[in-house]
Amino acid sequence: MKQVAGIKLLLGALLAGRCLVAADSAESWKYTGPGSCSSPTCHGGVQPRDLNTVLQNEYSTWVVRDKHSHAFTNLTNPVGTRIAKIMGLPSPDTAPRCLACHALDVPADQRARTFDLTDGVGCENCHGPASAWLGPHTTRGWKYEKSLELGLYDTRDLVKRSEKCLTCHLGTPEKMVDHELIAAGHPDLYFELDSFMSVMPPHWKEVDTDPWFAVRAMAVGQAVQLREQLRRVARESQGGIWPEYTELDCFACHHNLTAAKDSWRQERGYPGRRPGNPPFNLSRYVVFKHVIQDADPSAVRDLEAGIKLVYAGVTALNSDRRQVAEEATSVSELAGNLAKRLNGMKFDQPQTLRLLKSIAADGDGIAEQGERAAEQATMALDSLFIAYAKNGKLGDDAEIRAGINGLFQQLDDPSLFNGFKFAAAMKNLSSLLP
Ligand code: HEC
Ligand code: HEC
Ligand code: HEC
Ligand code: HEC
Repeated sequence: MKQVAGIKLLLGALLAGRCLVAADSAESWKYTGPGSCSSPTCHGGVQPRDLNTVLQNEYSTWVVRDKHSHAFTNLTNPVGTRIAKIMGLPSPDTAPRCLACHALDVPADQRARTFDLTDGVGCENCHGPASAWLGPHTTRGWKYEKSLELGLYDTRDLVKRSEKCLTCHLGTPEKMVDHELIAAGHPDLYFELDSFMSVMPPHWKEVDTDPWFAVRAMAVGQAVQLREQLRRVARESQGGIWPEYTELDCFACHHNLTAAKDSWRQERGYPGRRPGNPPFNLSRYVVFKHVIQDADPSAVRDLEAGIKLVYAGVTALNSDRRQVAEEATSVSELAGNLAKRLNGMKFDQPQTLRLLKSIAADGDGIAEQGERAAEQATMALDSLFIAYAKNGKLGDDAEIRAGINGLFQQLDDPSLFNGFKFAAAMKNLSSLLP
């Protein structure tokens, strides 16, 4: 018996040795599951520590407070169950379509022994497969860059960070929340990097200590989400339903009708489209436009011209899809280049103030594009205001805060969104800024 155990140990050691050697090649990287990060001396502490930039209570934060840890179990809540029923799926927690975003649904040969699908959206969904760097990254003097070579995903980089979030919060060719899924009950997907990072209980301290980091995050996030939406438009034009309703302003269709005299939509008119056609959802452009106007005015003309063509093409309902796809691809490339440029920029106090002012002053233009555009602008203003207030006083901060809260309130019931009321509140906010 003893001898057998000895041989087993030896075999184990040999196998482990092989693993270490093989760990250098990407094909052998495996997902180990959040359990492997949960020891109290690793990332499972109850209180944050102050030894270095790593708080060491990341697991506890995630498992207790972060909604991502419930992403799998929520699939079978009443909403999830009903979605699956309407979609004709046997069960939401086995459907690849749902697991794509609500768990770490990687192929069997990438699952380590400790892997558990029911963990939901865990550490490795965002940080990459851990098998190769899990052991070495705890050793003294180990560098972040070495982990990157072994499969750690570079979440410190804001372009990469946005891209990662948007794989699930906007979609990819493999992961989709289209209007069919939404009509079955799935929440619509919208995103703003800085706001969503603030809502996500933070399990990290930013390594970049730039006081205006949040402004850069907002700016880069806007660029990347515009790029990703336009890529999606280009994909959709390859075939299937066109335009996919998720590319349109939801509440152009989903609002209550009123007496003609009370309709702000009729009063506004339908600039740039045939009356009654649902407009392309410009929410990922209305804020970005201001960011670029300030950061790189020379890029605005091309951007604006390209967006105009995509808007017209999608909104016309009967346009040449291939042409729209070409245009969408070219603007998405432009947005991608601008994302990189913004990521390399340093933002500061005067620029933050200029952005706050120019977005707030554009109430009419933003409100005209509907509820989703108003929502993006509100999240961006909130983000900018918080960043500014952290570093200095803006004026009557309490009144400005109340103004932004008022904008959020106008979005509580999106079907009741009233563009004129929203624009008026923006004007009021604008008048409070120095
Ligand atoms: C493209 C990624 C993606 C896909 C595919 C996806 N989801 Fe989701 N789901 C999300 C995101 C992101 C949220 C959170 C949205 C938010 O709050 O902004 C969410 C939220 C939910 C919620 C919470 C809503 C609530 O009110 O409780 C349920 C339930 C849900 N999804 C079920 C499903 C089911 C069932 C499927 C498969 C038919 C599915 N999802 C497919 C990304 C996805
Ligand atoms: C939804 C995405 C997401 C999930 C899930 C997630 N993280 Fe993170 N994590 C981030 C982001 C974004 C950052 C900030 C960028 C950074 O510092 O790398 C971060 C930072 C960290 C850091 C600091 C890294 C550094 O750069 O020094 C650690 C440590 C960490 N996470 C551990 C964990 C652990 C452990 C889990 C699971 C229990 C987890 N994370 C789950 C997104 C995520
Ligand atoms: C693998 C897919 C995936 C990735 C990557 C991902 N998320 Fe999520 N996220 C989800 C799902 C699914 C939910 C809904 C969970 C639930 O409520 O069941 C969610 C929920 C959230 C919520 C809660 C929203 C609410 O309504 O309260 C926030 C905030 C959030 N994610 C932020 C982020 C950020 C920031 C990143 C990138 C650093 C990110 N997510 C990356 C899938 C993902
Ligand atoms: C071109 C018009 C149009 C657009 C744009 C549109 N929808 Fe729909 N939507 C419909 C129609 C038609 C139905 C089916 C209604 C029915 O059968 O009663 C529907 C059904 C729904 C339903 C289920 C019915 C209900 O009342 O709960 C939801 C939720 C929904 N849409 C949300 C959205 C969201 C969110 C968006 C934007 C991402 C959107 N829709 C964009 C036309 C549209």
